[in-house]
Amino acid sequence: MKILGIETSCDETAICIIEATESNQENLGTLASTSAPTSTSTSNISILGNALNSQTKIHEKYGGVFPMMAKREHVANIMPLLENALSEAELLQKNNPVKISQNDLEKIKGIFKKEIGLCENFINFISTFNKPEIEAIAVTEGPGLEPALWVGINTAICLGIVWSIPVIPTNHMEGHIVSSLLVPNISPKDDKEKIVTEQIAKISFPAISLLISGGHTELVLLNDWHSYEIIGQTKDDAVGEAFDKVARMLELPYPGGPHISTLAAEYRSSGIYSKNHKESGELEKISFPRPMIKSPDFDFSFSGLKTAVLYFLKKNPDANKNAVACEFEDAATEVLIEKTKKALEKYAAQTLILGGGVTANTYIRKNFADLAENLNIKIYLPIQQLSTDNAIMIAIAGYLKYSHDGVSTLDIKARGNLSLQ
Ligand code: KG4
Ligand code: ZN
Repeated sequence: MKILGIETSCDETAICIIEATESNQENLGTLASTSAPTSTSTSNISILGNALNSQTKIHEKYGGVFPMMAKREHVANIMPLLENALSEAELLQKNNPVKISQNDLEKIKGIFKKEIGLCENFINFISTFNKPEIEAIAVTEGPGLEPALWVGINTAICLGIVWSIPVIPTNHMEGHIVSSLLVPNISPKDDKEKIVTEQIAKISFPAISLLISGGHTELVLLNDWHSYEIIGQTKDDAVGEAFDKVARMLELPYPGGPHISTLAAEYRSSGIYSKNHKESGELEKISFPRPMIKSPDFDFSFSGLKTAVLYFLKKNPDANKNAVACEFEDAATEVLIEKTKKALEKYAAQTLILGGGVTANTYIRKNFADLAENLNIKIYLPIQQLSTDNAIMIAIAGYLKYSHDGVSTLDIKARGNLSLQ
């Protein structure tokens, strides 16, 4: 089954086409609900086309993402990206272009009335190319920035109308969870990355997922596929947001996570740093709080940590930036590790799944890999390409949802605060 994935929840416009096949066709439909580690059903996912435009450079100067600016960029880029992805997938032909009926044309104009300019580009594109061999469209319905989400949703709805195929509303956070379960397998025959999703059918439950991104910090209990319970979350800033805000204080570019991580890594390898901070002259003076680390629940708070960095920098404007970044990263990591460890133990979890943009952080990855090893549980981390927002995770989450309960509807709307449960 070929699925088109569309992601526009924040500052990445992403479109992909995946092909999902079952190694045991009879099990299609039960795949997503089976928790038995012995299941013989395996989903193989091939990425046929993938196109992504990041708006980072545009938002960089403002130090954050402005929803209306993000929307404008999605509007400008979505059709060219769709064309690129379909072309890469070799699904673009012109010998029998789609004819849009008058009735559909009116509907499309109504749907796109807030996305200025997109309607015209859409109609031009559709009337130039044949209907591609695609069976469904998965689109992010939330969580995210609503004006940005609407661009992807309205495009998906209109494509569903003109190509007469179903549209599957998909949860962005579920996308981050499934993106971690892919084992990349580079096909020796061609240079395209082929990803085999064997683990989707094989992970052992209960599982704990820690989702860490620019908008979320959540601990999720999975008793089975599609059975999510949020057991803890941040009470204020998300951890990625704290990285970005601290980076801004240190005059580093947006998004700040990778820059903090680089400064901290330099500091750790500089020889000044020692794990327990005792021998380090600089780190002795820098000590940030580990908010809520000992609280009995699974919630987080990163706003106090961010404010501690702010006050420290006000008092010590000439502080060593590497040391500040390092102590901040240590503090954030320790809290994430401690809370996750407690959740893994309480629920006797057999699997740990990390997802979201902050999982690109090498230090955090290493600490979680060590934790899993110590607890003797299996850990899944997304490959670098899939750790930040992308359309592949949306297409796969949509595919699992569709094969699980056949959900598809044209009554989709942007759900900025959509939750996993
Ligand atoms: O999942 P994502 O791409 O978008 C959201 O849904 O928010 O996550 C983006 C977040 C940003 O806050 C960014 O600073 C953070 O992920 N991030 C990192 C690293 N790479 C990206 N944070 C820490 N270390 C990194 N290496
Ligand atoms: Zn995300």
